[in-house]
Amino acid sequence: MNKQKLIEEFIALYGGEKESVRVFASPGRVNLIGEHTDYNGGFVFPAALTMGTTIALRVRDDNIIRMKATDLDDIVEIDLSAPEKYKDIFWGNYQVGVCVELEKAGYEIVGCDMLYDDTLPHGGGLSSSAAIEVATALAFATLSNEKKGIDKPVDMIEMAKIGQKAENNYVGVNCGIMDQFASAMGKENHVIFLDCKDLDYKLVPLNISGYKIVIANTNKKRSLADSKYNERRAECDAALEKLKTVIDYDYLGVIPVDVFEKNKYVIGDEIKIKRATHVVYECDRVLKSIEALENNDVIKFGALMNGSHDSLRDLYEVTGIELDTLVDEARKIDGCIGSRMTGAGFGGCSVSIVREDAVDKFKEEVGKNYTDKIGYAPSFYVSDLGDGGREIK
Ligand code: GLA
Repeated sequence: MNKQKLIEEFIALYGGEKESVRVFASPGRVNLIGEHTDYNGGFVFPAALTMGTTIALRVRDDNIIRMKATDLDDIVEIDLSAPEKYKDIFWGNYQVGVCVELEKAGYEIVGCDMLYDDTLPHGGGLSSSAAIEVATALAFATLSNEKKGIDKPVDMIEMAKIGQKAENNYVGVNCGIMDQFASAMGKENHVIFLDCKDLDYKLVPLNISGYKIVIANTNKKRSLADSKYNERRAECDAALEKLKTVIDYDYLGVIPVDVFEKNKYVIGDEIKIKRATHVVYECDRVLKSIEALENNDVIKFGALMNGSHDSLRDLYEVTGIELDTLVDEARKIDGCIGSRMTGAGFGGCSVSIVREDAVDKFKEEVGKNYTDKIGYAPSFYVSDLGDGGREIK
């Protein structure tokens, strides 16, 4: 909902004057290529969406924190002296995790009333959790700085790291930095080329004139995704440990393809070799994608996206029947030049590059064929690329 409407709902809920309500927002992301590479010190290429989390809030004169979501009934009241008790609540635990990490980093959590509005599908693989984390971190860090009289803008890369730590330490998902970084640092019409080993990054204008980014949601209920995610991560760590006995690299994602090919035998386990092969070649595909976009070669970019999906399906094994069906059906459409899963996998969304005049046909035919095969319908989002976390004045 728009800012005005959100403020009206806030007043209806908490009372008081409109003038004292402030609004913060942070988006979800779509990753165009570079999947399961971030926690391996490799490259990713995500962009912030225009869908995300918006928070209306008002500072209180005590330490109480009350929060509610526009699509849920209950107000959650948070007592930060006992953060553990919120770990398994249905909604609100990401926020608690963020407050805990902000306190560890020296921020003072200011009491406030908050109303959250989320426009991303929950658990749909477009980083709805990172959007909540980064918006929450920005809001509380801003209030803390003001209370302490610190007159400088909030460091958004720090907010991304706080969000990731909340997820790692509090929520218990061992995610990398990509989602929070994209949510914090995105820029309208740009994609972020991020080197995850040192967070060096470049904003790349999205040169795909005549084409659209079409996101399709499998609408699969996510199950076991978090534990499988952590398992993949452990497999990569184990492969790297073996490789380190013969070559000197700190991350899987920085090993050149030829060096990897010569030394992969040392991993000694077929599954782990497959996982590592995906990571090494996927990082190479990201570099080739940047080059393709710089040369205005959208067709090559699309082919690299296809290669990425096939590797995630066959080597990393994180796609599943729903994502594979979406992607297979997408690739049959004349005008779709590349299609792949985006995010962690095991359900969630695909991303496709589709010629503008073919978008309607794409939605219709992919929607119908997916429904016939899977038994329920996908959802589509033709999304613009938006800005990262900010206060909306
Ligand atoms: C999830 C994680 C990210 C990243 C992707 C896979 O979105 O949160 O850190 O690992 O999966 O690329």
